[in-house]
Amino acid sequence: MRIVSLLVGMRAACVLLASSWLAGTGADSSSGRWWGIANLVSSANHLIDSKRGQLVLDPSLALLSRRQRRLIRQNPGVLHAIAAGLHSAIKECKWQFRNRRWNCPTTQSPTLFGKIISRGCRETAFVFAITSAGVMHAVARSCSEGAVESCTCDRRRPGPGGSDWHWGGCSDNAEFGQAFSREFVDSSERGSDLRYLTNLHNNEAGRTTVYSQMQQECKCHGMSGSCTVRTCWMRLPSLRVVGDLLKDRFDGASRVIYANKGSNRASNRADLCHLQPENPTHKPPSVRDLVYFEKSPNFCSYSRKIGTRGTTGRTCNSSSPALDGCELLCCGRGYRTRTEEVTERCHCIFHWCCHVSCLNCTSTRISHQCL
Ligand SMILES: *[C@@H]1O[C@H](CO)[C@@H](O)[C@H](O)[C@H]1NC(C)=O
Ligand SMILES: *[C@@H]1O[C@H](CO)[C@@H](O)[C@H](O)[C@H]1NC(C)=O
Repeated sequence: MRIVSLLVGMRAACVLLASSWLAGTGADSSSGRWWGIANLVSSANHLIDSKRGQLVLDPSLALLSRRQRRLIRQNPGVLHAIAAGLHSAIKECKWQFRNRRWNCPTTQSPTLFGKIISRGCRETAFVFAITSAGVMHAVARSCSEGAVESCTCDRRRPGPGGSDWHWGGCSDNAEFGQAFSREFVDSSERGSDLRYLTNLHNNEAGRTTVYSQMQQECKCHGMSGSCTVRTCWMRLPSLRVVGDLLKDRFDGASRVIYANKGSNRASNRADLCHLQPENPTHKPPSVRDLVYFEKSPNFCSYSRKIGTRGTTGRTCNSSSPALDGCELLCCGRGYRTRTEEVTERCHCIFHWCCHVSCLNCTSTRISHQCL
């Protein structure tokens, strides 16, 4: 497989890091640039051409690096999967954060998620993790659906065979999806600083989460459903399951710093790549944990400089003590209440055949919006 060279590449990056301990956190403008292709899909079916390995002249594709464009050429059909995976990830992000001050806003601009991306806070971590997971997920599924020419179902997946059943079903190709996401998504990140390590860690956390949730599914064959032989395969989790887990990790994310390069263990390469918890009494982050290195802004008010929209106009829940409650969501600024008369069809009766009659019911709907 073309794309498996990556692990080697990552190790090389670590060695490189050993010789360039720059503690800078300057934003890298290429970070996450590929997200710009989200706008390409929403506009039209331009992607059909990618089947023939031909890239249409959509300006969004200029956001990709040469390496990323090469990957797309070498894997016909994959651009569509990447874009679909990105869209699912955006949807999942918005769902997971719908009740919070930061609700995963996106724009039509190429930076898509805005300035939050050049920071290193928890929200940044979630965006990196869910988007790399989304790409892996969509590519792995597209392989098993035959939509990417360079991969297929995973039929080699070594499962513990039994006397009455065997592997042979068409597994979602998580291996290919994971390797592809590493090559494609991670290649947007450059540098050697804390931000670089953090972004790559969170990308990998997203992918590992997808991988860890693969489920075995089986189908029975045999006389009148007797299940004398079963065929089994591995199926991807839904992206909601992945989103739920990553959201938990968001809440328990670890704040990290560079591993201490002066440590005695520095001769060990793995340690050089290590992100250390800022608080030395905390456990080091595992590969599935989200990591960040900067406190989040409070997201209360609009700031062009910080890149926050603020919560003015957001709908809040006046009886909730939680984050979606008006007190917290509106940051203590208060809220206004709107009463609306809504007319809906109700008490519908089905008349044989075929017509439905309804009454009109009017109700009052109350909603609250942050000032
Ligand atoms: C508002 O919050 C209350 C208390 O948490 C909850 O029971 C209710 O379902 C919420 N309403 C909406 C519309 O979400
Ligand atoms: C309900 O409202 C619609 C649209 O205003 C109207 O056309 C219809 O006749 C109404 N139906 C009844 C049962 O009042």
